[in-house]
Parts: sequence; structure tokens; C-alpha cells
Amino acid sequence: MNNQEQWSSKIGFILAAAGSAIGLGAIWKFPYMAGTNGGGVFFLLFILFTILIGTPILLAEFYLGRRTQKDAVSAFKVLAPNTAWPLVGILGVICAFIILSFYSVVGGWILSYIYRNATGQLFADSAISYEDLFGQIIASPAEVLLAQGVFMIITILVVRGGIQNGIEKASTYMMPALFILFMVLVVRSLTLDGAMEGVEFLLKPDWSLLTAKTSLLALGQAFFTLSIGVSIMITYASYLGKEVNLPSSALSVAGMNIFISLLAGLVIFPAVFALGFEPNAGAGLVFVVLPAVFNEIAFGSVFFFVFLLLLLFATLTSAFSILEIVVAALTKGDSDKRKRYTWIAGILIFITGIPSALSFGVFSHIQVFGKSIFDFADFITNSIGMPLGALFISLFVGFRMKKSDVYQEISQGSSIASKLFNIWYFLVKYLAPAAIILIFLQSFGLFE
Ligand code: ALA
Repeated sequence: MNNQEQWSSKIGFILAAAGSAIGLGAIWKFPYMAGTNGGGVFFLLFILFTILIGTPILLAEFYLGRRTQKDAVSAFKVLAPNTAWPLVGILGVICAFIILSFYSVVGGWILSYIYRNATGQLFADSAISYEDLFGQIIASPAEVLLAQGVFMIITILVVRGGIQNGIEKASTYMMPALFILFMVLVVRSLTLDGAMEGVEFLLKPDWSLLTAKTSLLALGQAFFTLSIGVSIMITYASYLGKEVNLPSSALSVAGMNIFISLLAGLVIFPAVFALGFEPNAGAGLVFVVLPAVFNEIAFGSVFFFVFLLLLLFATLTSAFSILEIVVAALTKGDSDKRKRYTWIAGILIFITGIPSALSFGVFSHIQVFGKSIFDFADFITNSIGMPLGALFISLFVGFRMKKSDVYQEISQGSSIASKLFNIWYFLVKYLAPAAIILIFLQSFGLFE
């Protein structure tokens, strides 16, 4: 039975898709990646890759989803029956499953910090070592698992509510709240004495820091933050009506994603520089350096609370989309099965995430190919699964689908000029695959 739901409005879809895109990638990962990889150079490359490669693939995913009105796996089955192409959808669902298993671990850390902030423990002592505190939190099995469990339950409860009443409703409250909260923090950060040094670090590229590795990381960042390559956006676009303008939706989502990354940088770097911290603290930048920064300014605990809240909102709206693609692949559009399958998928993802959650504590001695369990799960999805999925999606749209079919679907609801369409088509068919292959080769050390 197919009684698939739809988004109630274009703006509801855009906010949900932007919610999927904007998450840990933009707010947690972007500042520390930029901080350790040259600041402005990384930011510029990230923008360039988002525009030239990420957004075209995002539109390709929108095309596949709306054209078929199907989940990630069925979409390929409909368009290429009796071929191996549905494996691309299956790869996406498996990747999404693994991503959420460790994404929810970080979601749990945010909840732990929110709890400690709300109960006054985070800023109780001016000499507190946030490095020790963060280390303690992520190494405590009971705390990380409890927090990860709570994060997954919130995600399950929203996704179980369905498209309009669950994901769309939550996103239409959470995304505007995210923008407003960010504005408060940007103003606070930019008005600190010495803030300009941080702004320069983010916006003034030092070209001597441009390397192949930085390019690779910036491309991975563009894919991860746009949620592309794992068919999430195919699934989200399958709930769209034909009247919606796909190119302008893709541009809006990509634009908001760049904008939030910029805001995250404008909150973090001015504050870090103004108070004499280093920007290259790595993954702990948000959890270790930022509370130390806020500990030194008036009402810092309030501002940090606001920051944690927006990080939580952004992380949740991404988590909804990642769980949704798994649920959609299981229910195949049958809303009657949604509640049951959301619980089943959510619980299985939680269980799969347990080793990642414990990999900073009791399982820290376990290494997979030289990485911790958490880092390995991140690596196989972010650095292998997503680029591979994006490569296959661009090849599928470029070489398997008829150009006239693609044009017809994309021009529905939009009056895209054929010239612009041709540029996009070239980017998807040639530039995106070539860039991904080149970067893959690079990452295997062939070019260095
Ligand atoms: N796009 C999501 C993020 O950036 C996965 O966190």
C-alpha cells in the first residue's frame, strides 16, 4: 500500500532540507577543520566546492527523488530496473545507518554539556580544565550511553510523527530559532576586543597554506554538510509536489549552509583570538576551547547555553533526515508501518553506536585499521561512502538518464533557462565525477 505523505509547503521542505544539511558539519566540524587547515583558504575552497560540485549533486538528488517519488533504494529500482544501480541507494541507507550511530554519540555529548551548564557545573570554577572535563564526560560509559539514548529517543519521536507533523513541524520552529540564536552570538563575539584577528583568520586566505590535503578535506566538508551522497536528499525530495522549483530550492539550501558555516566561524574565531586561545585545537574546539572562552566573558554561561542549544537544534534536524532515509527505505511509503519501523531502526542504530560511544573510554584500546571505532565509522562514511555515493549519483544522472527527461523534470515548477540547465548538466556529468575521482586518488596517496 502506498499512502506516502508530502511536505505541506515549499518553505517547509526548504527548512527541513536546510535542517538536514546544517548540523554538526557546519557548527562543530567546520570551525575545527578551518582552524586546523589554514582558516580562510579552507573556507574559500569549501565555498567553491559547495557551489561547483556540492550544489549540482544536491540538485541531481532532488531530481531523482521528485521524479520517482520514491525512497533511496526504490528510486533507482524504478529508473533502472534489473540493474545494479539500486545498490547506490542501499549504500546510502547503510551509510546513513552508520552515520547516525556515531552522530548520536556527539548529540549525546551536547546533551551532557547542556545538563551541566543548566545545573551550574560547567562554569562553577574559573580554573576548571575543560580538556579534563570533556575527557571525563566522553570516557564515562554510563553518561555517554544515557545521553546518546536520550538523543536517539528525541529523534525517533519526531521521525515517528511523519513528514508534516514530525520533521516539517519541528524544523519550522527549530531552524528560525537557530538563525536568531546565532545572531545573538555573532554580535557578542564580534564586539569583543581583538575580535578582528579572528575575522581575518576566517576571511583572509593565506594562499601559502593551500595543499592537496586541504582541498580534499574541504570537498569532504562540502559533501558532509550538504548531506549528499547518501541519498538523504533523494528521500526528502520524494515528498515534493511538482510545483516546487528544484533549482531555487537547491540554491537556498546551499546558501543557508554556507551562511551558517560563516556564522559559526564568526562566533568561534573572533572569541578564540580575542581571548588569546589557539584556533587549531581540533575536534575539541567547541567542547574544550569555547567554554573556556565563554568562562572569561560576562554572562558567558548564558551565551554558551545559547550556543549549545543551537548546536542541539542543528544536530537534531540533521539526525531526523538521517533516520528518515532508513525508515523510508523500510516502509517504502507505507505510512501505516512508520511508527513500528522508526522504533526498530532507531533502536538498532543506537545499539550499533554503542562501540563508537565507548571508544573514548572502555573501548579506547580497540583500533580498527589504526583508528578508534568512532573515527573509523566516521572515516568509512564521510571519506569513502559519501564521495562514492555522490560519484555514482552524478554518473547515474549524467550517463544513465536521458537529458530530455532530466530537463523536463527540473524545469517543472521552475523556468530554468536552457543555458543554465546545460551548465548544471555539465557540472554533474563531468566536473563532479572528475573532481571526486581525483580527490579519491589523492586521498590514497597517489599524488602526494
Ligand atoms: N549534513 C549533516 C551535517 O552537516 C550531516 O551535520
